[in-house]
Amino acid sequence: MFENKRIGVIGAGVMGKALINGLLHSGHVQFTQVWASVKSESSQKKLSEAADYPVYTDFSDEIGKTDIFLVCTKPRYVAGVLDLLKDSGKLKPGCLIVSIAAGVTISRMKEHLGPSVALIRAMPNTPCKINEGITVYSPAAGVSTEHKAIAQSIFSSVGQVIELDEVHLDAVTAVSGSGPAYIFLIMESLADGGVRVGLPRDVALQLVSQTVLGSAKMLQLAGKHPAALKDEVTTPAGSTIAALLTMEDGKIRSVLARAVEEATRTARGLGNA
Ligand SMILES: NC(=O)c1ccc[n+]([C@@H]2O[C@H](COP(=O)([O-])OP(=O)(O)OC[C@H]3O[C@@H](n4cnc5c(N)ncnc54)[C@H](OP(=O)(O)O)[C@@H]3O)[C@@H](O)[C@H]2O)c1
Repeated sequence: MFENKRIGVIGAGVMGKALINGLLHSGHVQFTQVWASVKSESSQKKLSEAADYPVYTDFSDEIGKTDIFLVCTKPRYVAGVLDLLKDSGKLKPGCLIVSIAAGVTISRMKEHLGPSVALIRAMPNTPCKINEGITVYSPAAGVSTEHKAIAQSIFSSVGQVIELDEVHLDAVTAVSGSGPAYIFLIMESLADGGVRVGLPRDVALQLVSQTVLGSAKMLQLAGKHPAALKDEVTTPAGSTIAALLTMEDGKIRSVLARAVEEATRTARGLGNA
């Protein structure tokens, strides 16, 4: 699928690098097929020293040779990047542009690229760095099966992949895009609790991280509702129900659910920044 294809990653920061590494480690793509770009000379120097592929601050010479562009800059830079691609006049017919920027809609991107460019909007998350990510992608109208398969293959090299209508992407951003931060905050808080009752910090963190990992795997494998799995831990008159009621007193459910609602609203506005 990637044979003889050239892939350019515009914005090789946290997510851009994760995608390049996933693609290279998957074996689908050789490092000779990849280039990356960053904004600053300092990032260019740092990444060049570590990478086997070219890293540019000015990638204009690559535009006409590239089949797949992954746009991984912060949302506010996306319009400028797309203008640069379009205005170069060098985009190959049949090339594919995939953007992972939060909040930047397909219709917004089409305003810069024109209607005929194949475009996919996607939302991965940072566990892509260890191939445990999850990505939702939404193709623009008319995107070919081959281009969808390319997106599927890129993101499955770093974790699970779902195709969904674009209408859901801001909600996806709020749940799984930002989700690792919520889980880390919860894990830090649980470890703090362990430290408060006398556990060494490193032991508390190990207990918490393996508990989260094991619980997530149980949810994925058991095919049960999380409430049923919670009930299995909750002995009558025991310590778990005491903790759960304390959490309910703090309105933990509505706090977490409302946080997702707020993040969705914020994500929706990021493309207009
Ligand atoms: N981080 C997440 O958890 C996450 C999850 C899902 C989606 N996303 C989306 O992924 C995108 C990138 O996020 P990130 O966390 O990876 O950001 P990041 O680490 O700050 O990386 C952004 C990269 O873009 C480069 N850049 C900026 N302007 C550029 C331009 N005009 N041309 C080429 N490169 C340019 C920056 O170069 P310099 O290093 O020189 O500044 C940097 O390397 C965002 O749009 C975000 O919405 C992020």
